[in-house]
Amino acid sequence: MSKQHMASSSELYQRACALLPGGVSSPVRAYGAVGGEPPVMVRGEGAYIYDADGRQYLDFVQSWGPLVLGHAYPDVVQAIIEQARLGTTFGAPCEGEVTLAETVHELTGIESLRFVSSGTEATMSAIRLARGATGRDKVLKFAGCYHGHADHLLVSAGSGLVTFGEPSSAGVPKAFTECTLVLPLDDEAALCQLFAEQGHEIAAVIIEPIPANNGLLVQRPEFLKTLRRLTRESGTVLIFDEVISGFRIAPGGAAEQLGIEPDMVCYGKIVGGGLPVGMFGGKRALMNHLAPLGPVYQAGTLSGNPLAMAAGQATLQALRSLGGWDRLEQLGQHLERLVGPLLAARGYSLVRQGSLFWMNLQAGEPPRCAECIHEDSAARYRPIFHSLLAEGIALAPSAYEVGFLSLAHTEAQIDHFAEALGRALARVPAV
Ligand SMILES: Cc1ncc(COP(=O)(O)O)c(C=O)c1O
Repeated sequence: MSKQHMASSSELYQRACALLPGGVSSPVRAYGAVGGEPPVMVRGEGAYIYDADGRQYLDFVQSWGPLVLGHAYPDVVQAIIEQARLGTTFGAPCEGEVTLAETVHELTGIESLRFVSSGTEATMSAIRLARGATGRDKVLKFAGCYHGHADHLLVSAGSGLVTFGEPSSAGVPKAFTECTLVLPLDDEAALCQLFAEQGHEIAAVIIEPIPANNGLLVQRPEFLKTLRRLTRESGTVLIFDEVISGFRIAPGGAAEQLGIEPDMVCYGKIVGGGLPVGMFGGKRALMNHLAPLGPVYQAGTLSGNPLAMAAGQATLQALRSLGGWDRLEQLGQHLERLVGPLLAARGYSLVRQGSLFWMNLQAGEPPRCAECIHEDSAARYRPIFHSLLAEGIALAPSAYEVGFLSLAHTEAQIDHFAEALGRALARVPAV
């Protein structure tokens, strides 16, 4: 079955480090936060991935979300092969983008949308569009929400108070983030005050409706409803960044689950079925500001790429025909039933939304804002992570990242995970 690889995982990683900074193409893949060397993968099938040494891992990362059907799902592979035979890119309108747009519209109700090649491009373009359409410059984001790596969104917050964007990456000029405001999540009072003072100057608010990039910071619906009300009253474009939650939480994403209609949405990950796709969309009147219809420029050589469209279409079709959303919820409930008590016995807790889960390694109520996560969480996570990895179970190499279930996972695999987690938890102190 598995192809023989001449180079070991460790050899490949050393070669990677010689040419790729940190040995990776994206920093979250490095093991800086947990220590050690990441295994180099050569193959994935269903819920499993395999490294160059032939080691098998039960994978709860699933490429950080896109693989809702698991690795190398046969229909997706077939769709990619068939499209590859017909051509991989045309630089002209293609059938695949029309069919995928129609499927997205049917599932989500989004009136008008544009495909891009990553979540970063989706959020960056949505914000440009909101600024172009409103004629305003300021943008509000929330501490702990990640929206990709566009300069003006790489901003962290001081806790408690609204901060004017301090870049959180070197190489981002202060001037680029001066129009980015940051507030803590879960704080209606701060939100109301900001909108009372500056609402009419704010082009857009961008938020992950289910913040899943700094732990899983499930928001109170009232907070999100207040945000919807204030943005509507001030003519501010409300953007839901559903790059993780889109097509995972429900056919219409978190917006559908919450019953809140944003003005725009950004999708990524699942919509590309494991190939590089992002998408942003919303009301037609707003989207018509985009070139070629309107003055807001946005473009991409490989946008709407036929291969990626085929993978996305096959993924959404399978999700639909398998009743994917109910099944993901079932699997999530199973995991919660087993893992919740294990964590609770140590004073910790499991946070779960559908097929997303996060181990909250601190006592008390699960946090709802980034500032509420105790810094000891990272040290507690390390031995758990390595104990699981040694048993062939792959979680994200960071205490702040969520786990992903896919339709390829089974109850038996989740049982296996829970047993291994029980052994791993014995290695960390209870709180
Ligand atoms: C909520 C959210 N928005 C945007 C992005 C950026 O997407 P990409 O990595 O495809 O650029 C991510 C990536 O994880 C994300 O989680």
